[in-house]
Amino acid sequence: MPIKTTPAKPFDVAGALSRTGEAKTFAIKTFGCQMNVYDSERMMEALAADGYVETPDVEAADLVVVNTCHIREKAAEKVYSDLGRLRQVKEARKARGRDTVIAVTGCVAQAEGAEIVSRQPAVDLVIGPQSYHQLPQLIARSQASRRAVIETEFTGEEKFRSLSPERRVSSPSAFLTIQEGCDKFCTFCVVPYTRGLEVSRPVEAVVAEARKLVTAGAVEITLLGQNVNAYHGADETGGAATLGDLVNRLSDIGGLKRIRYMTSHSRDMSADLIAAHGACDKLMPFLHLPVQSGSDRILEAMNRKHTADQYRALVAEVRQARPDIAFSSDFIVGFPGETDEDFEATMSLVADVGYAQCFSFKYSPRPGTPASGRDDQVAEAVKDERLGRLQALLESQQRAFNDATVGQTVPVLFERRGREDGTFVGRTPHLQMVHAAAKADVVGRILPVHIRESRQMSLRGVIEAI
Ligand code: SAH
Ligand code: SF4
Ligand code: F3S
Repeated sequence: MPIKTTPAKPFDVAGALSRTGEAKTFAIKTFGCQMNVYDSERMMEALAADGYVETPDVEAADLVVVNTCHIREKAAEKVYSDLGRLRQVKEARKARGRDTVIAVTGCVAQAEGAEIVSRQPAVDLVIGPQSYHQLPQLIARSQASRRAVIETEFTGEEKFRSLSPERRVSSPSAFLTIQEGCDKFCTFCVVPYTRGLEVSRPVEAVVAEARKLVTAGAVEITLLGQNVNAYHGADETGGAATLGDLVNRLSDIGGLKRIRYMTSHSRDMSADLIAAHGACDKLMPFLHLPVQSGSDRILEAMNRKHTADQYRALVAEVRQARPDIAFSSDFIVGFPGETDEDFEATMSLVADVGYAQCFSFKYSPRPGTPASGRDDQVAEAVKDERLGRLQALLESQQRAFNDATVGQTVPVLFERRGREDGTFVGRTPHLQMVHAAAKADVVGRILPVHIRESRQMSLRGVIEAI
């Protein structure tokens, strides 16, 4: 599920001093999915361990990391306009006698490598998602050589083993990457090329990291992976654990109250994972299960390897295990060759399933992917019209889902303070955002909230008991 970029909260670290006696500062800008958010947090920890102090002000930073996304053309192009602005910052700082290191990380770094430096020579470092554990050394190398450094090797589990063993949390709801990469090669998607083939972290490493997150203040953990339910991490007996096994293991951690996972593929919804939804109270009743299209013809051309009816049947099976579960999905409109009839099949699938919230996109041809070379691309105006209709339907479903909560009392995990004084923002088990007022600080607590009002994207309510 893609997310909007929100700057992560600065960590409260006592920074070491540089040779000149001043603390080195850094800023990280994060684009793309939750896995990038997780990676940014890990990079912050690596930099803090090396003596850097985070600053929210990009123009004041000695090091700026741009953690990028390559999923659609717009996302990738945004990187270059951002880098153009950073070049100006770098030049202005240079005129004041200060150096600025610019590092590009993430999926654009992996996909474009040295080309980034050709397009924007102000960039000092290009680092792919598998090499973040080397960040401080790579910075030192680029400063010593005064040349751009490009590091885009795939090292698999090495990255996780070598990252700082300490974990901090900036919110009671933490992310934990358990699986990276993807072997599915959907014909529209860059992920198998930017994140490599699927690698699962061992159970022991995941459980140890989850314990650290909980000790640091996490109450909820979202397990992340491009194909998280294809998880098959090694367990202590030498066998492979499923995601269902892992959820059960994690649910034994006392202070951990809520478990979520994303993103799942329909083909990997195994029976034991579905059963865990019925049996494990800590596993929240919300499932992001992207389907992309409701047309069998398009699903086949996308290489999704299931039909629309198989997806409907899967939704029914999960609902049987956990009747109050809510679903979300991603959709692509205007995949090459998509006819009006194909699009209507998507609309009818949405009507049948009934979603709580969704993301929908116009198909964006990505370099090197099979679908981008097809000669039956759909006209932009047609994509616009279809996206408008689909989004209207999805929005009406989200509104109906939120409206149905009004009058109920639901447990809300408060994650942060709201914009208005004395207000707090949290999430229901179904991932709806809730605003409520409280006299005491309720961040990190799960409290019953009586929902009074519903909006398109959020709910408002009154805390019943503190
Ligand atoms: N692993 C997930 C998807 C990860 S990418 C899955 O298999 O469903 C996140 C979302 O971006 C996808 O679900 C898809 O809807 C969208 N997306 C990916 N490539 C795209 C493209 N070329 N054009 C438009 N949307 C795309
Ligand atoms: Fe991309 Fe398909 Fe893999 Fe999802 S399953 S990351 S859409 S290739
Ligand atoms: Fe984007 Fe890479 Fe995530 S392409 S969606 S940042 S895996």
